[in-house]
Formats: sequence, C-alpha cells, structure tokens
Amino acid sequence: MLRSALFTLSATLAVTVSGLNILLTNDDSWASANVRATYEALKSDGHKVLLVGPAVQQSGKGGTSVFPTVNITAPGGEFGSIPVGAPYFGHDALDQNIWYFNGTPAATALFALDVIVPTRFRTDEKIDLVVSGPNEGSNLGPFLYTLSGTIGAAYASVERSIPAIALSAGNGTHRSFTTNTGSKTDPANIAGRLTANFVAALARGVNTKKSRLLPLGVGIGINFPTFGPGNPCVAPPFTLTRLTGGATIDKVVINPATGFPTFTNLVTDGINVKLNGLHNLPGETVVNAGCKTSVSVFSIDYDAPTAVAAPVQAHLLPIFGKSQLPHGF
Ligand SMILES: *[C@@H]1O[C@H](CO)[C@@H](O)[C@H](O)[C@H]1NC(C)=O
Ligand SMILES: *[C@@H]1O[C@H](CO)[C@@H](O)[C@H](O)[C@H]1NC(C)=O
Repeated sequence: MLRSALFTLSATLAVTVSGLNILLTNDDSWASANVRATYEALKSDGHKVLLVGPAVQQSGKGGTSVFPTVNITAPGGEFGSIPVGAPYFGHDALDQNIWYFNGTPAATALFALDVIVPTRFRTDEKIDLVVSGPNEGSNLGPFLYTLSGTIGAAYASVERSIPAIALSAGNGTHRSFTTNTGSKTDPANIAGRLTANFVAALARGVNTKKSRLLPLGVGIGINFPTFGPGNPCVAPPFTLTRLTGGATIDKVVINPATGFPTFTNLVTDGINVKLNGLHNLPGETVVNAGCKTSVSVFSIDYDAPTAVAAPVQAHLLPIFGKSQLPHGF
C-alpha cells in the first residue's frame, strides 16, 4: 500500500515539474554533438526546447556581442552545416526549433530572445531558462568565466533577467552531431543526459508560472569532468563549489624557439580571493580534477561587497566630497 501511495505521489510531482520553455545555446556552433545531444535529452524530458547556436565555432568570445553584417561567407557553417551565401540566420530544414545565427554567443542568445523566440512561442509564454552548452572543454575559475563564450551567453541572458545555466564538459573534442554514436556512453550523450538531470533538479517543485527558477542576477556555472571511450567516469556526482579556489590565470612566457608569446597556468592570490559566497566551499577547479561535476552559483552584481569597498571609498573622499556619501556611511 505504502509503495503504491508513494508511486502516486511521485507521479503527481512529475506532472507538475515537466515542460519548461528552454532556450538552448552554446559557443561551439549549432552543429556540435554536445548541444544536439542536449536538445534531444531535454526534449525527451518533456521540455519545449528552442536551440539557437552560432553558425560557426565561437569559442573564447566571452560576453562580446558581435552582430553579422553579411550573410554566410566561405567556408560556410561549421562542419559544412550551412551553404555559403545562405542568410545570416535560419533553421534546420526538418526542425523549426533548431536554428543558427552568425554572431558571437552573447549576440546569438540576444538575437534568439528578441527575434526567434517570438516566432516560436506564444506571446503569453516566456523563456523559463537559458541553457548554454555543454561546451567542448572545461571553463574553470574567474578567468575562464569572463573568457568563455558558453558562459558569456549565460551571463548575457541573466542580464536580460532570464535564469541561465552554463555547462562545460571536460572532453574538448570538437565534433559534429553527425558523429554521435547513438550509444548512451557517447560523451555527448552523457553530457546531454547530465544536463537534463540538472535541469530537472532545478525545476523540481517550482511552478514557473508563479516563480523564477533562479533569483534575478543569478546564474549557475557547471563543469563536467572528462568523459570518453574506456573512461570509467560516466556518472560524476554533482558537487557544490565556488568559482575561486585553485583557479588559474595565464602567465605569459616567450617561446624561445619562435620568439612569440604563449602562456602557462598560474595560481595567484588575486584570482582566488574569497570576497563573496560561502568561503568554505571547495573551488570548482579542484573539484573538477576528480570524477565530479562542479556546480557554482554566480551573480552578475560585480560591485565589491560593502565592507571591502568602504575603505576604498573613504580613502577617495577628497575627490568626491561629502555630499556624495551614501546615507549611513
Ligand atoms: C542576405 O540574404 C538575404 C536572404 O537570402 C537576401 O535577401 C539579402 O539580399 C542578402 N544580403 C546580402 C548583403 O547578401
Ligand atoms: C573525447 O571524446 C572523443 C569522442 O568521443 C573521444 O574520441 C576521445 O577519446 C575523448 N577524450 C578523452 C580524453 O576521453
């Protein structure tokens, strides 16, 4: 009896949490294996998903917003996915919920929200969540946070008041969706399933008609470890982390053979400072080195915390004058 009562309860819960309106985007292009596997996984969980990805690989563009001024130029869309001369945006011939846009990741997310979403969703519907990624390669710590196009599309969406999550997978192989083996253990399918599982956890018990999935100004950065053939890491547990802690920034070194600059990774106090968040959480860089998925909650309120900013502001008082002091300073 108890068993069947529990089953009824969970079946009821399952009904109330399904069916988010999701905008899915990325930076490795609309034709990448990870984003297409994630599209399938989210759809199979009952969500309404609109995929709008860059026409070509747009890694490392951060939050820069560059719009096209010409149609698709040579050599065409990523992996031959769009012919030369095609319009700067368009959809898959067989699926009107799979689109490309020839801009940077942040520009793609904004174009999707303002131009494509209104054609695919009713005016009384809204996007509940922007899902960006999973990226081909990890994006760990503050340096990658600003640099990554995957995360750039997510924080641009948060700035547009829409809850957003950015996902990055340790496996950095740049692959077309046409190379997906169809196996559950294909790294793209593992990343897609884990993304859908995370979205289910985020949506659990939330009525999105009444409340937001995340507070205003807040997003989540997720890093999966590396999956691949023969790798036993296929079910990494989700682990709460913070952005700083063991994080790296570039140190420039001159290659003696070529004379040109390159970089090595440097761990500095500056990048690993703990001003915000829970100080005792492990850093995502450290956690990701094991078979674990890091989950860091970020905010786009970049102002320094009051206690940290106050002495700086007080020191600068002579150039501002007392009239500019906030009340209670
Ligand atoms: C871009 O493509 C559109 C749609 O095919 C076409 O109408 C337009 O003339 C093209 N613009 C340029 C600058 O080639
Ligand atoms: C990453 O995925 C590709 C494609 O499945 C695979 O060939 C490669 O071995 C994987 N890399 C690692 C380090 O597991």
